[in-house]
Amino acid sequence: MTVVILGATKGIGRAVARAMAARGDRLFLLGRGADDVQRSASDLDIRAGRSVVAGTAECDLARPETFVPALDAAAAALGRVDTVVVTAADFATQPALEADLDRTQQLLTTNFGNTVTFCEHARQRLLAQGGTLCVVSSVAGDRGRKPVILYGAAKAGLSHYLEGLDHKFRSAGLRVVCVRPGFVKTGMTAGLKPPPFAGEPEAVARDILRAIDRGQPVVYTPRIWRLIMFVIRSLPRSVMRRIEF
Ligand SMILES: NC(=O)c1ccc[n+]([C@@H]2O[C@H](COP(=O)([O-])OP(=O)(O)OC[C@H]3O[C@@H](n4cnc5c(N)ncnc54)[C@H](OP(=O)(O)O)[C@@H]3O)[C@@H](O)[C@H]2O)c1
Repeated sequence: MTVVILGATKGIGRAVARAMAARGDRLFLLGRGADDVQRSASDLDIRAGRSVVAGTAECDLARPETFVPALDAAAAALGRVDTVVVTAADFATQPALEADLDRTQQLLTTNFGNTVTFCEHARQRLLAQGGTLCVVSSVAGDRGRKPVILYGAAKAGLSHYLEGLDHKFRSAGLRVVCVRPGFVKTGMTAGLKPPPFAGEPEAVARDILRAIDRGQPVVYTPRIWRLIMFVIRSLPRSVMRRIEF
């Protein structure tokens, strides 16, 4: 498989890239820091013991003008692109966002408007030949919850968009995979108290690869979060107002 990954420098994206490289997929890495992305590419090549990364390009979710050149560079290097994976995203806690509306606007723009814009560019390219668009959203988008109101609102919009894409374009050859992780121990959650059932990025990456291979439209990972969110979605508002989850 040929794969373009946005977000392979850290956390879940890095684990996905490593798992793909280990099984022989050919990768093109996109990211906002040229040196960091190049370092990640070298690390993947060294771990695999051969060249698995066809190239890298700058792509910053805060700067939509970088999207087209980045995807053009990936297509030129890989030839056919089978899969585009987006794991990159911004994060800040609810108290930090409530205290700073400029920061809130930045996060909402990066995680919703600009991520959808990037996906639209990817969708057009993938539709031309068939392929998979795999995007990491979050369980935070499943329901309005006190600790993640603003971050969750962007992820809710993203999940909604991905569901619409699946409904409209599946029959035309576009497979859309919306990944909804629960709490995963990465740099993004460093400093937050891990809840029970917190996951590791390597296990989450295995679930993501399985979902891509199967063309599964929605995947909860770790899997227990499917059940947790089923319960949370079923709770009445009177309960949601009282709990801190
Ligand atoms: N960890 C969790 O508990 C959890 C739960 C649910 C959903 N998620 C979602 O899972 C995905 C991966 O998160 P993670 O936990 O692996 O986070 P992470 O370790 O902090 O990695 C975030 C990645 O996003 C990239 N990134 C951030 N802002 C960017 C921008 N403006 N342009 C391009 N790349 C940017 C980072 O690149 P740099 O190296 O340049 O910083 C990094 O590669 C995200 O979509 C996150 O919302 C995570």
